[in-house]
Amino acid sequence: MATSTTQLLSTVEHRDTLPEGYARPESDRPRLAEVASDSNIPLIDLASHDKPRVIAEIGQACRTYGFFQVTNHGIPEELLVKVMAVALEFFRLPPEEKEKLYSDEPSKKIRLSTSFNIRKETVHNWRDYLRLHCHPLEEFVPEWPSNPAKFKEIMSTYCREVRLLGLRLLGAISLSLGLEEDYIEKVLGEQEQHMAVNYYPRCPEPDLTYGLPKHTDPNALTILLPDPHVAGLQVLRDGDQWIAVNPRPNALIINLGDQIQALSNGQYQSVWHRAVVNAVQERMSVASFLCPCNSAVISPARKIVADGDAPVYRSYTYDEYYKKFWSRNLDQEHCLELFRGQ
Ligand code: OGA
Ligand code: NI
Repeated sequence: MATSTTQLLSTVEHRDTLPEGYARPESDRPRLAEVASDSNIPLIDLASHDKPRVIAEIGQACRTYGFFQVTNHGIPEELLVKVMAVALEFFRLPPEEKEKLYSDEPSKKIRLSTSFNIRKETVHNWRDYLRLHCHPLEEFVPEWPSNPAKFKEIMSTYCREVRLLGLRLLGAISLSLGLEEDYIEKVLGEQEQHMAVNYYPRCPEPDLTYGLPKHTDPNALTILLPDPHVAGLQVLRDGDQWIAVNPRPNALIINLGDQIQALSNGQYQSVWHRAVVNAVQERMSVASFLCPCNSAVISPARKIVADGDAPVYRSYTYDEYYKKFWSRNLDQEHCLELFRGQ
């Protein structure tokens, strides 16, 4: 077998057993038999003419689940199909092509990597991922992979559409909190947009490891394009029940990041979630993250605090938060806990 210079999973076929460094201790395994199947992750039709109702549904979903799915979101189905296809094609490139893009340095703006934070973690995760900065597109696209040939064109079209959808959702989330429609967008400033193209290969021992262990997303809003054929995303309910989110045709999965939890003074939840793997099928997902600009000052919205709640979190800059997030391993306490207090 050719030795690989990196720890990428997708460049080697792993047939029978988990390589060293991936098995979790007994107390920290996914216990897949105990996961509930998706009962009621809210599904919201964005094309509904009843705007107040859509906003109320979004508010309710953010308060209770921190997760929802949207249909009729305006991003054409053909584009979603193309994004998935070109993403898979990327991970099928020959090992030499992929090695060129490999980095385990989290501050790099374009990198192909593996697991989560290979330099900090003690146990690795069954995932490779391509991480790209996406806004402004003109600045970053020239550095994106030029193989597959259509990658830049398809992904940049998707990024533009996702950004519009994300900003629309942030408007609805502001309204649902009783804030001005542009409140969150103004606080977050000129938002960065990042993308993680996740590839979870088939795994010989899926009961022992994760694609991504339990985490919350550090950004403001995540829009996930899930693999239409393979489930793997799971969301924590009521502190102890994992629920599998089954992909629905053409729906996108939305989850709130830590910054919306902070801005909403904890009314809305940035919920724990994880990705599990399986022995039969590889799985892909394309996560788009809207992130406050680095200098954005995040604190609970004044109006919410004025309405009677004491501020749960102190003010901080997103730069401070993001550095803290990446300085840690994933499976620790909620990063926002470190920002409690005045
Ligand atoms: C993420 C994430 C879940 C998935 O990339 O932050 O939670 O299903 N992904 O890939
Ligand atoms: Ni996530």
